[in-house]
Amino acid sequence: MQQHLQQARQLIADARRVVALTGAGISAESGIRTFRDPGGLWRNFRPEDLATPEAFKRDPVTVWEWYQWRRQLIAAASPNAGHLALVRLQQRQGLTLITQNVDGLHDRAGSTGILKLHGDIWTLRCTACGHAWHDETHTFAALPPPCERCGAMARPGVVWFGEALPEVVFRQAAEAAAAADLFLVIGTSAVVFPAASLIRQRKNCTVMEINIERTAATSNADLALRGPAGEILPQLVMD
Ligand code: OAD
Repeated sequence: MQQHLQQARQLIADARRVVALTGAGISAESGIRTFRDPGGLWRNFRPEDLATPEAFKRDPVTVWEWYQWRRQLIAAASPNAGHLALVRLQQRQGLTLITQNVDGLHDRAGSTGILKLHGDIWTLRCTACGHAWHDETHTFAALPPPCERCGAMARPGVVWFGEALPEVVFRQAAEAAAAADLFLVIGTSAVVFPAASLIRQRKNCTVMEINIERTAATSNADLALRGPAGEILPQLVMD
């Protein structure tokens, strides 16, 4: 492992265009549950009941209750050493940060220009007029909350199963991935598409995975570091 860490440190230091794709695993050490690990959200809840446009149409209050619960848990959490190491890396040599996470912990850590493939749990969007806005309310007066502009029903500003990813964001992510000479895959099971399609072996680009276990991305990785992101990442970017 020490040898791998040394090699990884060098690869990062030498890289010119670093891209990182993060998943729920990077927030695990902040106490936020992942989706597919033991104890993960999709082990206890059915995505089709809570994270699809059909579920919201059927029962918006239940869907909103679930999102409000998650907003409260996330609000009580803090960015961890993994999030902070990515801030350090961005400040030191530049980094395009692509995330599947909606928790906003990368923002709170201080990363900038984050490409959020699956939206943001702190954004609300009107189902009628389309207005979107940032809202950090922990407990809404009523569920579903109303649009701040027109008063119609608002929805969480996240991407649900069966919905398209934000087009511009995905294009920017794909362009950054195509131009990268180092692609870090951090804390994701890499089974949700199209996000996982960004992870590809290409000439002139090293793919480095950081995860506590083997994933669908491992076979595409030139180097796989096994361990918690909050422990490994700080070791990779220390001066
Ligand atoms: P998953 O729950 O599928 O995977 C979490 C990954 O994090 C697993 O590979 C774990 O091994 C790894 N992991 C757990 N703790 C870790 C730690 N401390 N350090 C490093 N790795 C750790 O979560 P995602 O891959 O993010 O989509 O899931 C992708 C998408 O599926 C999510 O964005 C969400 C979900 O449905 C939407 O909400 C649209």
